[in-house]
Amino acid sequence: MSVPFHIEDETAMLAFGAQLAEVVRPGTTIFLRGDLGAGKTTLVRGFLRAKGFGGAVKSPTYTLVEPYMIGGQRIFHFDLYRLSEPEELEYMGIRDYFDGRSICFVEWPKRGAGVLPAADMEIDIQHSDSSRVLYLAGASLASPDAFGSTVI
Ligand SMILES: Nc1ncnc2c1ncn2[C@@H]1O[C@H](COP(=O)(O)OP(=O)(O)O)[C@@H](O)[C@H]1O
Ligand SMILES: [Mg+2]
Repeated sequence: MSVPFHIEDETAMLAFGAQLAEVVRPGTTIFLRGDLGAGKTTLVRGFLRAKGFGGAVKSPTYTLVEPYMIGGQRIFHFDLYRLSEPEELEYMGIRDYFDGRSICFVEWPKRGAGVLPAADMEIDIQHSDSSRVLYLAGASLASPDAFGSTVI
């Protein structure tokens, strides 16, 4: 089951990421789907800022993964857009990232199909002009009420 949320603008997407930071537990893997410019990285930025990260959050398009250590919690932000084949993840030592304690965000998970572990939570972002509809699935532990954004 997935729950749709209306995300009016960039500020609302940052706020949604911040709300996610309240409910996501260590060891959670979150897949982020949606076209280029949908707002996947913006959501991760909102999450990291809410966790207390004060630096710049940039898309790891070329590095494939950006590591963060915030208050003892390891968080990895993957962007697999430029992954040429899923097996490349094995050369990266994928198991060291998905270690059951780290929180992992993965943009373009389909590029790693077959090698990436399963997601605990999946977010699909559809966009038209500036507003977005975000579909949240797998967040069974978090009631939609935990998110201040409008449920459609
Ligand atoms: N409702 C919205 N939610 C998220 N981003 C938005 C929204 N409206 C406009 N934007 C803009 O769209 C862009 C999204 O970029 P980004 O988060 O990097 O996308 P992605 O990682 O999905 O490619 C940003 O420039 C942001 O300012
Ligand atoms: Mg991105």
